[in-house]
Amino acid sequence: RAPDTRAVRGEILYFTGEPAALGDAAIAHFPDGLLLVRGGRIDAVGPAAELLPRLPSGAPLHDYRGKLILPGFIDTHIHYAQVDVIASPGEQLLNWLQKYTFPAEARFADPQHAAAAADFFCGELLRNGTTTALAFATVHPGSADALFAAAHRRRMRMITGKVLMDRHCPPGLCDTGTTGEAESRALIERWHGRDRLLYAVTPRFPATSSAEQMRAAGRLFAEHPGLYLQSHLAENRQEVAWIARVHPEARSYLDVFSRFGQLGPRSVFAHCIWIDDEDRERMAGTGAAISFCPTSNLFLGSGLFDLERARAHGVRIGIGTDVGAGTSFSMLQTLGEAYKVLQLQGQALGAAQAFYLATLGGARSLYLDGRIGSLAPGCEADFVVLDPAATPLVARRIAGCATLAERLFVFMTLGDDRAVLATHVLGEPAWRR
Ligand code: GUN
Ligand code: ZN
Repeated sequence: RAPDTRAVRGEILYFTGEPAALGDAAIAHFPDGLLLVRGGRIDAVGPAAELLPRLPSGAPLHDYRGKLILPGFIDTHIHYAQVDVIASPGEQLLNWLQKYTFPAEARFADPQHAAAAADFFCGELLRNGTTTALAFATVHPGSADALFAAAHRRRMRMITGKVLMDRHCPPGLCDTGTTGEAESRALIERWHGRDRLLYAVTPRFPATSSAEQMRAAGRLFAEHPGLYLQSHLAENRQEVAWIARVHPEARSYLDVFSRFGQLGPRSVFAHCIWIDDEDRERMAGTGAAISFCPTSNLFLGSGLFDLERARAHGVRIGIGTDVGAGTSFSMLQTLGEAYKVLQLQGQALGAAQAFYLATLGGARSLYLDGRIGSLAPGCEADFVVLDPAATPLVARRIAGCATLAERLFVFMTLGDDRAVLATHVLGEPAWRR
C-alpha cells in the first residue's frame, strides 16, 4: 500500500464558505462519510459507499460511525504561559495583569518550567479538539522555544512568538527595544517555516512597548514573508483611555498599530470591543483579523464584541479562548459563550456560523485556508471527532434533534472536553478519550 494511507469513517462535516452568507451551500456534509488520508493530507472525501472500494488493502480504517468528524478547531488567541492564571478572580484587565498574570509569566524565565507548561498546554489543546493555535509565549525567548518544541514533537501547526514588552512591566519581565528585536529575529530564523511552525511578532499591547519597540515590531513583521503579528486591541475601557493618553497623535487605538506598520494580512488583534466603523473599515481593507474571545470578555468584564458590525464591514474574524483571562480551552464552550455575548446585543449566532468561525473562519483569518480548517481534498488532515453520547444530557438532548444545525447547537451549548472522543493530527490519532 501507499505510505501512510489511512481511512476514517463517520459523519463528516466541514465548511466551504460562510453559512451566514451562503446558507446550506456553505456546508459539505456526508452522514456516512469517508476520509482518505495519504501522507497526512486529505486525498478524498465523500460517501463511504463510494470511497470504500478505493481503500488500498491493508490500510488502517478508523471507524467513527455514529460520531461527528469536523476539521480540528483553530484557536486564534491564547496565552500558553497563563495556564496557571485561569480562574483568578476579582479584577478587570489592568489589575488582573499586575496581580496574577505578570507574576505567573515571570516563572517562564526557567526553561524547565516553560517546557513542562508547553507540554501540558499542547496536551490540553488536543484534549479539546484544537489542532492549531496562535499563541502568546512570554518575554523570555526560551518560552517560545519551549512551545515550538512541544508542538513540533506532536507535529501540530502552531504559531507563536516571544512577547515584546519593554516598559510598564515588572523587572524580570522586560526586554529592551534592541534585545527584543534581536531575540525575535533569532527565533524567526530558528523556527519560522520549520515543518508546520510559524512565527508571530508579538508586541503585548502599546502600553508595554516603547515607540522604539513598536517600530522594531513593524520592521520585523515586514522582514520575512508569511510572518504573523499578534497583539491586543481595545479590550477594556481603562486600557483604551491609557493608550489614548500615551499616543495622542493617533486617531484611535487601531491607528497606533497602523502608524507603526503593524496592520496588514496576518496581523491578528484580540478583542476589538471598543472600536468604531472607521477602524472596522481599515481592518477589512488592510486584511487584518479580529480574534473574538467571549469567555475572556465576560470574565474580565471587558465588554461585548459586536460581531454583526465587524462582519458587515467584511473584517476577517476568528475565535480565541484567550486562556488565562478566558475560562476554558474548549472551543465548544467558547462558542456557547459567544452565542450569549451576541444574545445580549440582540444578535443571533447560528450553530453553523459558529462552527465555521472555529474552523474555516479561523483559517481564513490566519490566511491558512486551503491547508487547515477544512477537510476538502488537499488540506492537512487535522480533525476532531465529537461524541453525541458524551454525557447523559448531551445524548438525551441530541436524541431529540431533527437537524444537523440542532445537533451542532447542542454541542456548543452543552459540550466541553468530554465531547471530544478523538483528535487526529496529520491523519494520526493524537488524543483519544
Ligand atoms: N492585554 C495585554 N496583555 C494581556 C493579556 O495577557 N491578556 C488579556 N486578556 N489582555 C491583555
Ligand atoms: Zn490575550
